[in-house]
Amino acid sequence: MRPSELIKFKQAGRTITILTAWDSLSAALVEASGADAVLVGDSLAMVALGHATTLPVTPDQMLHHTQAVMRGFRNPPAQQPLIICDLPFLSYQCGEEQAMAVAGRLLKESNAAAVKLEGAEPETVAVIDRLVRMGIPVMGHLGLTPQAVHHLGYRRQAEDQRSQERILEQAQVLETVGCFALVLEHIPAELAGRIRQRLAIPVIGIGAGCDCDGQVRVTADLLGLTPRQPPFSPALIQGRDLFTTALDQWVRDQQAHPTTPTTPPKPDC
Ligand code: KIV
Repeated sequence: MRPSELIKFKQAGRTITILTAWDSLSAALVEASGADAVLVGDSLAMVALGHATTLPVTPDQMLHHTQAVMRGFRNPPAQQPLIICDLPFLSYQCGEEQAMAVAGRLLKESNAAAVKLEGAEPETVAVIDRLVRMGIPVMGHLGLTPQAVHHLGYRRQAEDQRSQERILEQAQVLETVGCFALVLEHIPAELAGRIRQRLAIPVIGIGAGCDCDGQVRVTADLLGLTPRQPPFSPALIQGRDLFTTALDQWVRDQQAHPTTPTTPPKPDC
């Protein structure tokens, strides 16, 4: 699937579904779900690598995990979901050359067909412009942008009118510069709906209400596997409880059948 197909889905009124994956197992689950796209999100820093934020994950680690995701797919390439890979913190904030090199390598050495990056500051817009003109499809990301956690925290964004107008303008700039889709995270639903109406590209929400062209979720959150559940992304099942109960049962079963004690070896004389 090509990124441009998501625009056709919006035109046809077909809801777009995107789930994250971080390794072969999660990729196989997401592929089997029939989601349109897989996001190898930098949330894997927290979900798979145990970091407290998304900031520490490196381009090499993103590539390593994207390659693992590719190996998890069972369908032939033409039937696989679109793979979008996050550009991690400091891989695009230091300028266009570095962003080109990191994004280009991700597409060259994995099956990712697009990258996602956060924000719409003028420097970021310049980076997106360069990537798009050089043939690298880009998905934008506004609202709660976790790479700016030390500035914004994890709270809901765009609560006042001024910041709402700013996000509206930024969304339009991202469309103009060539993003093929836009993620809106943790903003008021009414604002997401307004942005969706204004843009021709699909608006993909997470914690942004239902009036979006599609939804994206961190798969580990949906499965109830993450220790800290975001308030805007409730779990569908309590995966941690299910898994720990099953493993606990297995350990008890094994312990219920003691092995025959071995006779201690005779000491050498
Ligand atoms: O890294 C990620 O998983 C994301 C989603 C929350 C959209 O960016």
